[in-house]
Amino acid sequence: MDNRAIGIFDSGLGGLTTVKELRRLLPNEHIIYFGDNGRVPYGNRGRETIRKYAMQDIRLLLSHDVKLVIAACGTVSSMMTPEMQNSIGLPFSGVVLPSAQAACAASSTGQIGVIGTTATVRSGAYGRAIRAIRPEARVFGNACPLFVPLVENGFIQPDNEITLKVAKLYLEPMIESNVDTLILGCTHYPIIYDIINQVLDYKVTLIDPGREVAKWAQNFLTSSGILREGEGSCEYYVSDSPELFSDTAAIFLGGDIQGEVEQIDIDSF
Ligand code: DGL
Repeated sequence: MDNRAIGIFDSGLGGLTTVKELRRLLPNEHIIYFGDNGRVPYGNRGRETIRKYAMQDIRLLLSHDVKLVIAACGTVSSMMTPEMQNSIGLPFSGVVLPSAQAACAASSTGQIGVIGTTATVRSGAYGRAIRAIRPEARVFGNACPLFVPLVENGFIQPDNEITLKVAKLYLEPMIESNVDTLILGCTHYPIIYDIINQVLDYKVTLIDPGREVAKWAQNFLTSSGILREGEGSCEYYVSDSPELFSDTAAIFLGGDIQGEVEQIDIDSF
């Protein structure tokens, strides 16, 4: 047993898709979430900036004495070096490996698509992880930079014409490449899961990175004997307006945010 919290971070709201899954799978855990809503999006930034932001986000979580750190962000997960991971001094997971494992298990043809931010797709991290598991796999990537602002601004209803139009444009190459499995390589994307599924005519298996990393955490905490006992809860930290975060977070979490939302100065970490 270990009653310390699980620390999770993302550039904004996307990581809440992971929180939702964790709450479902591990209802006794205490979750500390940081959403960097003052600096979102990360995905259009350079590698070194993303790494600097990621380490600040991790230091904030470490100041809360967590037992596990999860980068619920495809962009950060694609940029984390082994040195950065080792420097944390705690168990860590990003979303790339659990998603790649799930995609390799799900695909029958080995034609696997990956959508993500510009930085994620450019990094090739998902492709490397997939080919390490299935060397014969063919991986097709496409950056979808408009999805994050659309999600952050609440353009998420399944019949939202603007998001549907953008999704058709971004997903056309995936249809042409005949992928049978698609990794939603950014944790914001599961929020428009229905739109993506609709555009792909419900013919492609979609991999939700938040769900996969949550399953990984459940296995890890269980096999390590460090589950928490008692009633679970959440604490949220943001780098900009808590009100703006809470309003949109409620849509993602499917109800009012449970727990305090506090604004912190991320530059001091
Ligand atoms: N949820 C982040 C990701 O998975 C958001 C990307 C961004 O901030 O651009 O990549």
